[in-house]
Amino acid sequence: MDTNSFRALRVREEGGAFVREVEDCRLDELPAGDVVVRVYYSSLNYKDALSATGNRGVTRNYPHTPGIDAVGIVEQDDSGTLAPGTEVVVHAHDLGANVWGGFSERIRVPADWVMPLPTGLSMRTAAAYGTAGFTAAQSILELEENDVSPEAGQVLVTGASGGVGSIATAILAKLGYSVTAVSGKQEAAERLRGFGAAEVISRDEAVDGSSRPLLKSRWAGVIDTVGGPILATAVRATAHGGVVTACGNAASGDLPLTVYPFILRGVRLVGVDSAWIAEDRRRAIWKRLAGRWSVHEALESMLNETDLPGTEEWIVRMLEGGVQGRLLVRVAAS
Ligand SMILES: NC(=O)c1ccc[n+]([C@@H]2O[C@H](COP(=O)([O-])OP(=O)(O)OC[C@H]3O[C@@H](n4cnc5c(N)ncnc54)[C@H](OP(=O)(O)O)[C@@H]3O)[C@@H](O)[C@H]2O)c1
Repeated sequence: MDTNSFRALRVREEGGAFVREVEDCRLDELPAGDVVVRVYYSSLNYKDALSATGNRGVTRNYPHTPGIDAVGIVEQDDSGTLAPGTEVVVHAHDLGANVWGGFSERIRVPADWVMPLPTGLSMRTAAAYGTAGFTAAQSILELEENDVSPEAGQVLVTGASGGVGSIATAILAKLGYSVTAVSGKQEAAERLRGFGAAEVISRDEAVDGSSRPLLKSRWAGVIDTVGGPILATAVRATAHGGVVTACGNAASGDLPLTVYPFILRGVRLVGVDSAWIAEDRRRAIWKRLAGRWSVHEALESMLNETDLPGTEEWIVRMLEGGVQGRLLVRVAAS
């Protein structure tokens, strides 16, 4: 077998359209970097679906290999930091966005992008959490650090049947929070209750179309993954001193709001960016996912699986908002 050769999903622009194919590649095609990782697992996140379909806000140049998550084994480390054979997680920074990502049997990245697999997680489970699970935990940490305790009141989770939303719901419930989940999928309600949601409401119920700048105080905290009118309504219905985290734009990048929730109720809107985060904070969040905040059982029950060629059918479905839970991508043949 040629050890320089491996398979990767390549996205190419052809005649104005973006086409995806699993291709044979060679190590010398990979970008410069210290560490070569043999990737066993990746996962499909919303950002991957955008990158795979030519969204220039995510990926500037094509051909490109998406995959913002990569979990595998170090094959070579020119920096001398990691021994060959070390199990590692690589995510965040520019992986899969503008750097050759985890939908590939090999990646080459800077050594400081590579984190040893946290104790308590298998490679498969780490990839199943992936960026979605990490972002859910990062958002919940923001609530905790801003004094939104389980006793403070109800927490709203939007886009709840998606990856970030499902994992956030399960972790919050485990920590004792009372969760109201917003989902556009009626069929997801039972599963979300199974993850511990106290209440599931529809997207219509989560949007107030009036022009009132403030609504009845309802939420002590909000984990928003969708943006737009759902996020704006949530901010207007957040109680005094409450905290709203915003990580996504699955519905819209707009935020139609006045300043009144902020100046009359002291509501705090916290942006969550999982890509560029201090390394010690990143490791602390993974430690929580591997330990006290672990929801491995819920995670397993929300997991879909595919191999590299199988990602194709999920990409479009994800952009249409049709995916429930997480999609694990088995990358390298073991
Ligand atoms: N800032 C960061 O670092 C970071 C990290 C990870 C993810 N994100 C962002 O967070 C968002 C969620 O990511 P994900 O991986 O969880 O995606 P996902 O699995 O596709 O989930 C998104 C969910 O949003 C809801 N949704 C989709 N279209 C909608 C619409 N038009 N209106 C209202 N709700 C809609 C759907 O849930 P329901 O059907 O249940 O309503 C869908 O399942 C994405 O925007 C992603 O880019 C950001």
